[in-house]
Amino acid sequence: MENISDSLCRYKDYNFGIGLTTAEYIDSLQSFEIRDSDVFLVTYPKSGTIWTQQIITSIYELDDDHVPYPNNLERMPWLEYVEGREDYSLRPSPRLFASHLTPTLLPPGLRSKKAKIIYVMRNPKDNVVSYYHFCHAWAKLETPTSFEDFLEQYLEGKVGASSWFDHIRVWHAKREQYNILFLSYEDMILDLKTAVSRICLFLGKDLSDESVRQIVEKSTFRNMKKDPKANYEFLPADIMTGQFMRKGCIGDWKNSFTVAQSERFDRVVQERVGDMNLAFTWDAASRPQGAGKP
Ligand code: PPS
Repeated sequence: MENISDSLCRYKDYNFGIGLTTAEYIDSLQSFEIRDSDVFLVTYPKSGTIWTQQIITSIYELDDDHVPYPNNLERMPWLEYVEGREDYSLRPSPRLFASHLTPTLLPPGLRSKKAKIIYVMRNPKDNVVSYYHFCHAWAKLETPTSFEDFLEQYLEGKVGASSWFDHIRVWHAKREQYNILFLSYEDMILDLKTAVSRICLFLGKDLSDESVRQIVEKSTFRNMKKDPKANYEFLPADIMTGQFMRKGCIGDWKNSFTVAQSERFDRVVQERVGDMNLAFTWDAASRPQGAGKP
């Protein structure tokens, strides 16, 4: 791995946080054995990962017959990080994993189309703002000097997980090779019950209306914020000084972007992913812009 800044290193065209993983471990994922019952949650950072993690782990908690894991991170660990890693081949099925990786870095066995992937996308203006604040809260990331500087880094893909634009594009381009459900953070905000029902359907879980209602309730921003299994407050203060649950809304980008930055960003979105027919919801009151759904 080649260090590219004080907090990031690069391996196989992907930027990792320094110290979070090793080249050997990432290479070993090429022979990681996938089970048909595995479920992966894949996201670009700050797209609603721990939210969807709460929904998926809650669904499985209903019929897990082992001792409950102490928190969502342990029930659904990040595949790519070495900290806290265990021998996942010893885990009982169904195994749940979270990942920010791109298709080529993930185990090839996922292409058998039996294991399931849920991919969550967030509109990139809110995504970059959430990421900017996260860099202030996560001790191992460099604190950006200004939003303007961070915006440049983000547009150039010089952040952890590399470019948002490349992440979205490559997962869409390869979607036929996987058993994958695409969701958007904004659709989850606008109609959480429908999002939970879509996830249940995809996972083959026929839950009662009451169980769906309870999962929706457990997964609201307000309730997750005070749920110690879900809110990541269990992380030591020297790693995380802020909150994962920050604002949890659509359109917060308007508090950080200038008009000029927003117009330039729109042009970059058009240039980089304009051909992809994505539907973006830029604010809670607006309908999605763009011809299609992800
Ligand atoms: S990470 O670090 O990649 O795992 O971060 P991630 O979980 O993907 O994204 C964090 C943002 O998701 C918001 N969040 C929620 N929004 C709405 N409802 C619920 N329940 C919820 N849970 C998490 C969280 O607040 C972060 O967004 P911002 O805009 O920073 O608030």
